[in-house]
Parts: sequence; C-alpha cells; structure tokens
Amino acid sequence: MAKLWQKAYTLDSLMEEFSVSSDYLLDQELVIADALASIAHARTLEKLSLLSEAELSLVEEGLREIILLRQEERFVIRREDEDCHTAIEAYLTEEKGEVGKKVHTGRSRNDQVQTALRLWMREFATRLAEQTLSLCDRLFAFAEDHAKIPMPGRTHMQIAMPSSVGLWAASFAEQLLDSVRRLVDLDVILDQSPLGSAASYGSPLALDRSFSASEMGFAKVQNNVLYANNSRGFFEAMVLDCCDYIALTLSKLAQDLMLFTLPELGYFSLPSELLTGSSIMPQKKNPDGLELARSRAALISGAATQVKSIIRSLPSGYNRDFQDTKGALFAGAKATWQLVGIFIRMVERLEVHEEQLLKACTAELYATDVVLHRVAKGELFRDVYREVGLHLDAVEGLDPVASIEERTSLGTSGNLALEEQHQAARALSATMKSRLDGYQAAYQRLCGLREVAVVLY
Ligand code: ARG
Repeated sequence: MAKLWQKAYTLDSLMEEFSVSSDYLLDQELVIADALASIAHARTLEKLSLLSEAELSLVEEGLREIILLRQEERFVIRREDEDCHTAIEAYLTEEKGEVGKKVHTGRSRNDQVQTALRLWMREFATRLAEQTLSLCDRLFAFAEDHAKIPMPGRTHMQIAMPSSVGLWAASFAEQLLDSVRRLVDLDVILDQSPLGSAASYGSPLALDRSFSASEMGFAKVQNNVLYANNSRGFFEAMVLDCCDYIALTLSKLAQDLMLFTLPELGYFSLPSELLTGSSIMPQKKNPDGLELARSRAALISGAATQVKSIIRSLPSGYNRDFQDTKGALFAGAKATWQLVGIFIRMVERLEVHEEQLLKACTAELYATDVVLHRVAKGELFRDVYREVGLHLDAVEGLDPVASIEERTSLGTSGNLALEEQHQAARALSATMKSRLDGYQAAYQRLCGLREVAVVLY
C-alpha cells in the first residue's frame, strides 16, 4: 500500500526507517481505538451526506472486521504503512472498495491519532485507578488484620516510637488513595473529544463534532481545534505524572519491605515463589521484585520527563516530534500497570512475624512515652526529657500492645479510622466500574460487539 500522502516520488529508505521508527509496532496499541473513532467519523460524514447509508454500513463492517482481527492479533501494520491510520484505510479500500477512499474526508492523521490516544488514555486512567484501588483494598485489609501488632516506628531509619503493622500498611493505602483521586479527576480532562480538529485548524466541512463526541461516549468536545492538537503530549504527561505518583509510593513500599524482610530484622517475609535465586550461591533468595519496583519507578518518572521534554518547545500546530511521545506513554503506562499488579500479589502473600516485631520493640522505643506519661502527671516536659535522656539505661520498656492502643488521637495506631478510609476506596472503585461500563456501552453502540476494550491488558 502506498503512503496516504504518496505523490510521484519514493521516500528515501533511510528516511523512512528514521521517520517511522517503531511507530508501526507501537500503533498496534491504537488499532481498536482508531477503528472505533473511525466509525464515529464515518457516521458524522453520513450525516453530512458525504457517505450514503450503504457506504456507511460497508465502512462499519470493515472496521468491525479490523477490531476482530486485532483482538486475534492478526491485524498487520507494516513499516511501509507508517502507522495504523494508513493500514486501516488501506484495509477498507482493499476489502470494501472505493468507499475506503472516502473515510479520510475532513480528517487528518493528526486528529485521528489524538482521538485514538484520547480513547486509550481515558480507558487506561480508569482501569489504572481501579487496579490501584484493589491494591488499596488489600492494603487496608492487611492493616485491619494486623492492626494490633506492634512494630517499631523509625525516623532516620533509627528506632523512634511505638507503631503498628496496621499504621504502617494503611499509610501506603491512604497515599495510593490520594494518587487515585488525581487519576479520577484527570478524567474530566481526558473525557473530551479532539475529533474534527483535523490537521490543527478544523475544516470547511460542517462536521458535527458534538455528534461524533457523543457517539464515542465523550462527555464533551475539546473546543478549540488548535488546542485539541497542541494537547498532544500534554495529556500524556498528565497521565504519566499520575503513574509517577503511584510509582513513588510503591518504590517507598518496596524499600521498606526490602529492609523489613531482611533476615536480620525478619518483621515480614515473602514466600519463595515471589523471590528469585542466585546462579552461584545456593542459599540465596533475593527480592528482585522489590528491587525492580524501585528501578521501574525511576523509568516511569523518566517517561513523564521524556514527554515533557519533547513538547516543551514545540511551536503551535502538529509537529512530527509528537510521534516520539507515544513510546514513552505506552512504556510508562504498562510499567505502572505491572507494578501495581505485582504489589497486589506481594501484599496478598506477605507474611507477618509477630514474635520478631515484638522482639524489635526494645526499651528505647518507649523513651518518649515514658517522658510524656510523666508530663501527663504534671512534670515539665523539658526537665523530664533531659532526665530520661541522661539515664537511658534506666528506661524500662512498656507493654507494646497497650502502647499502641492507648494512642487515641485520629490516625494514630489506636484510632486508625481504617473503616472510613477503606469505605472511601470502595466508593471510588464503584465509580470507576460504572465509568468503564459507560465506555463499554459506547463501544458497543459503535461497533455492535460486546467485550471490546481499547487497552489490551
Ligand atoms: N504516526 C503519526 C503520529 O503519531 C501520525 C500523525 C502523522 N501526521 C503527520 N502529519 N505526519 O504523530
């Protein structure tokens, strides 16, 4: 198939390799989204009588075939095609005849790729929110199950004050919950349709942009056509920033777990099937999953930076540089998806060693509590602080369980308010499920197929 822009010359082969790069491979991610958006566009053309009813149904039939082929991993995009948009138009022309030559009317690959990416990011953000909420759910459940198990609280990594396994685990659940809230809010921005913005400046055809937006289940049209194109990369950066926040939290959790599962501390352990061996040292069981969580977090952060670096100084309107934001989006998104998934598995199987935790609650852990108990009976804080500090050897340990239970102010180990937090996570999860149902319903109205997903993981 010739390129969509083919004229009377052949592109230099090195320039083709350089400019297409891996886009034709990456575009497999966008095939279903582009086919769905193309149905919405074809329906808009039919409303303007630029396609007949019969032509529209031929186009819809062809696009439905493409969706099914992609689902079976049989839709082919070759380097010569440049991208999925070309391969899709070529398929329609080959299989359905002349009508294939009409579907690009009033559209550019610029708004086409924007629309496909928008559908992709909207679904990804919702699914990532849902997946992260199921990790929160497990962390809250873990915190509830171990709410009464004492654990040394540390600052500067040194023994600091009494804490609990519940406090530790729920801190990550609450932090993730706040990152999910950002993802949930991002939907307002992602849920707008760039279709009809064409090359960046719209077209003289009276394309009903509201109609195509609602056909795809978008809440609204992204109004300004130039902005619709200029937001390429900008929205990707927002999605990757949300990924970055989630990864930052999980990297910290990984670091804590590497420390707390050290045999020398032994607070927790991971089962063998989540640990890896060494090729030379027969005794080794390594937490590679935790280490890679740390490095993946760095890669995800790098993906967000990559996208911003590419778009930072681009002039208005489409520029080919945008194409290079695609790989970073897909790589960062997939890494985040897998990261959350692996933590679901690790939290589910994390074993807690109460006796080790109790052993770690040494007398020094209670030095501040001893001071504050005396202050509560009327002594002056600074005086007692100094006296206890000068005679640390005399500090006697307190009852570990009583110490965590006596803390009653909100959010402390004796009053974690886990139920309220857990409930908030469940409510958000229900909202995400209904959003996904809404997208599914829109896809089904477009292509007549059930169980269509744009993001294939
Ligand atoms: N593969 C291209 C991209 O991702 C599609 C748009 C091409 N547009 C163009 N004017 N060359 O950006």
